[in-house]
Amino acid sequence: MTATLIDGIGLLYTADPEREEIRDAALVAEDGRVAWVGPAAEAPQADRRVDAGGRCVVPGFVDSHAHLVFAGDRTAEFEARMSGRPYSAGGIRSTVEATRRAGDAELATHAAALVAEMLAQGTTTVEIKSGYGLSVEDERRSLEIATGLTDETTFLGAHVVPSGTSADDYVRLVTGEMLAACAPYAKWVDVFCERGAFDGDQTREILRAGIAAGLQPRVHAAQLGPGPGVLIACELGAASADHCTHLTAADVDALASSGTVATLLPGAEFSTRSPYPDARRLIDAGVTVALATDCNPGSSFTSSMPFCVALAVREMGMTPLEAVRAATYGGARALRRTDVGWLRPGARADLVVLDAPSYVHLAYRPGVPLVHQVFQAGLLLEEDVQNRPLVVPL
Ligand code: NIG
Ligand code: FE
Repeated sequence: MTATLIDGIGLLYTADPEREEIRDAALVAEDGRVAWVGPAAEAPQADRRVDAGGRCVVPGFVDSHAHLVFAGDRTAEFEARMSGRPYSAGGIRSTVEATRRAGDAELATHAAALVAEMLAQGTTTVEIKSGYGLSVEDERRSLEIATGLTDETTFLGAHVVPSGTSADDYVRLVTGEMLAACAPYAKWVDVFCERGAFDGDQTREILRAGIAAGLQPRVHAAQLGPGPGVLIACELGAASADHCTHLTAADVDALASSGTVATLLPGAEFSTRSPYPDARRLIDAGVTVALATDCNPGSSFTSSMPFCVALAVREMGMTPLEAVRAATYGGARALRRTDVGWLRPGARADLVVLDAPSYVHLAYRPGVPLVHQVFQAGLLLEEDVQNRPLVVPL
């Protein structure tokens, strides 16, 4: 058992509401956990010391919404959108075809490369959804691959109705044989509740079946237009309603009075050239907000939480503090995790040393690689982190 003292931290953003920022700080990591945080002048002894050189330290980002198990490429679709073609949920089906054709090893290698890309940008916890298989076996293997990369796996068989199937038949499959095959590999159940995907009744039915199978609900809600998804998420006690781009006053009230987090995914609005969600309205109403990448080949092919923080500040009315809080503490709340997303004694020692004096630089210097070092469960990630899974045994 080795204790590591990280000192010389110019600004420590802990994301712990009780003590959110500490200047001239230090942190001790021991056995993979945070053992102590406080002013550097009061730091206890440790076995080894790392000097942060006056830099800012933040918790590892918690990316609570990503679709990483897929094959194929939708560059042409993106290019067409940038020439004025609108985004539609139907594009998902082209990724489904490519994913079904791909072998397990190809899917696993590709997903692991995206996880490594995320880790290099400071993401130490990521949620991974299925949803590009849409057959019993392709959904099952997508989730099996995801379990090799994270504990936060989500069954999204209800992404769209695949070609050649009626909606009724598909809902029966998702709630029956597919759920039974996928539940052993999943923590969460999700539905794309949207015109062109699943309506309110179907969403309720699928989420209830998932809950009965031991999964916890989360919902893709109000991404492309207003819809019933947010109210259903709150009604069923979902951990999170994701996207929340087109909210009614009733949606905002329901989020504020439930424990459901609003997860905002500005990479999707960026990549679909759509209006951004109004984070200010949510925060002012007292809703807990998370930021995530939505990393997927169609609507948001970014793996970068710093990019999402910058978008949230510039485009969604969030302050830099609110955005970094949403990318850490908020993401952890959206996954119902208390061991990540903040730096307080007992939490996993997941942290990012920024090449900047303040987290404000994440938005102030957009697009600049500011991640100096990443520690995961107290271990400094060296160059050889390629394909390192985010499942960290403690
Ligand atoms: O979160 N909204 C549904 N799913 C993805 C889009 C997936 C795709 O276009 O391939 C999303 O934006
Ligand atoms: Fe999504």
